[in-house]
Amino acid sequence: MTQPSLCAKTLTQLTYISSAVRPMTGDELTALLTKARTYNRSHAITGMLIYIDGSFLQILEGEPSAVLALNERIKSDPRHSGVINMLSRTISQRAFADWSMGFKEAADLSEPEQQACAALFATRKGPANAITTDHVAEIIVRSFITNNLAH
Ligand SMILES: Cc1cc2nc3c(=O)[nH]c(=O)nc-3n(C[C@H](O)[C@H](O)[C@H](O)COP(=O)(O)O)c2cc1C
Repeated sequence: MTQPSLCAKTLTQLTYISSAVRPMTGDELTALLTKARTYNRSHAITGMLIYIDGSFLQILEGEPSAVLALNERIKSDPRHSGVINMLSRTISQRAFADWSMGFKEAADLSEPEQQACAALFATRKGPANAITTDHVAEIIVRSFITNNLAH
């Protein structure tokens, strides 16, 4: 079977947040990522998963139907709850082209990245302001794009 192309013309980038139902151990995160990367590679999904203190932030990139299908699978995963899609947009190129699913924890993040993540997680506590939410999600994506290009 031919692998799906990483150079598809129409690409979606989806950013969501969620809460782990209980703290994830390193081994649990490794197991999650190993399976996720296999699936993502065969469905031309790229992206980044961040885990901070029981909260997840994930950015998924790929063909719209592939991202939507994975988003549905992920939403029904019992390891987390409260999945909120924060930003969904069409992109012309992938920010995480080399990552079938990158992973970062708090210690791997710069101070501005940690602050942006915290701001995004905080939107769960009150009525979400769509403009602020999109803005913060955008900051996170941009920050990672800059860092990825720099490394
Ligand atoms: C926070 C979080 C992020 C996930 N990210 C991915 C992912 O990027 N790709 C993937 O295939 N599965 C991911 N999963 C796992 C899926 O939710 C699901 O367990 C997996 O697709 C297997 O589904 P199945 O049990 O229906 O076979 C993630 C799960 C969680 C909790």
